[in-house]
Amino acid sequence: MAKSLEERGRTRAQTRLRRRFLKFVPIGASERVLEVGCGTGVVVRDLAARVGRRGEVVGVDVSRHLLERARVLCGEAARHARIALRRASGAALPFADDRFDAALAITVMLHVADPLRVAREMMRVTRPGGRVGLQDQDFGAVAVTHPDRTLTERIMRGVAERMYEEPHSGRRLPGLLRAAGLVDVRLLTDVYQDTTLEPWTKTFLEGRAERAIRFGLVGTPTAERWLDGFTEVVAAGAFVLTVNYYGAVGVKAR
Ligand SMILES: C[S@@+](CC[C@H](N)C(=O)[O-])C[C@H]1O[C@@H](n2cnc3c(N)ncnc32)[C@H](O)[C@@H]1O
Repeated sequence: MAKSLEERGRTRAQTRLRRRFLKFVPIGASERVLEVGCGTGVVVRDLAARVGRRGEVVGVDVSRHLLERARVLCGEAARHARIALRRASGAALPFADDRFDAALAITVMLHVADPLRVAREMMRVTRPGGRVGLQDQDFGAVAVTHPDRTLTERIMRGVAERMYEEPHSGRRLPGLLRAAGLVDVRLLTDVYQDTTLEPWTKTFLEGRAERAIRFGLVGTPTAERWLDGFTEVVAAGAFVLTVNYYGAVGVKAR
């Protein structure tokens, strides 16, 4: 998981998606920002660069292991901005009301059992006039070229339905923020695009194949045939994978 998050974080298209979203929120110099579900700290490092020495970035995650990795990987960034990493759930944040200028959760809500509770907690710890921002992929909005469309649909949809609490989380984010009580909600729709089968996309598709076997959706030979199908498409120069990302931002009323 840690390796995959870092690999994803380094991918050019992902770096662009993240930066566009942070600009959309927007996150500015000297701000105090919370990231819920910080994982290995990919976003924490971007945030540290944006808020600078007078700002503060606090990352929380439920995973002890990922936080350990984050502490190592954010060492350099911590020389340029104040960074704190804590073990906590987004459903019960250990912070006072109105503590942050902005609270973010990036590719987290789709994993969460009670997203409304997390959004309300994020709003509670954000100051009046501050922003709550959520960005998620939407696994109902994935397009990929493959010779066997039916099999691709079975694997991609079947795995997403079993793997995430809400695979269509992306399109639901604006409604979620409004339901939590945020106002002036805006939406940024963005797209992850890969036409060369970059290392992270390869890892992503291999992960789908492994899970499809584990979930009993296909047998090993079928999963292997499915992965070989991508190799053919790439060799023909016809590979395209796109995934919609939705970023929603709301303001805590004054
Ligand atoms: C896909 S990772 C995203 C990590 C990071 N935001 C990024 O974009 O690289 C999702 C993270 O959310 C964390 N997570 C899931 N549910 C959570 C919750 N209820 N509270 C806090 N963290 C949570 C997971 O442990 C994981 O690190």
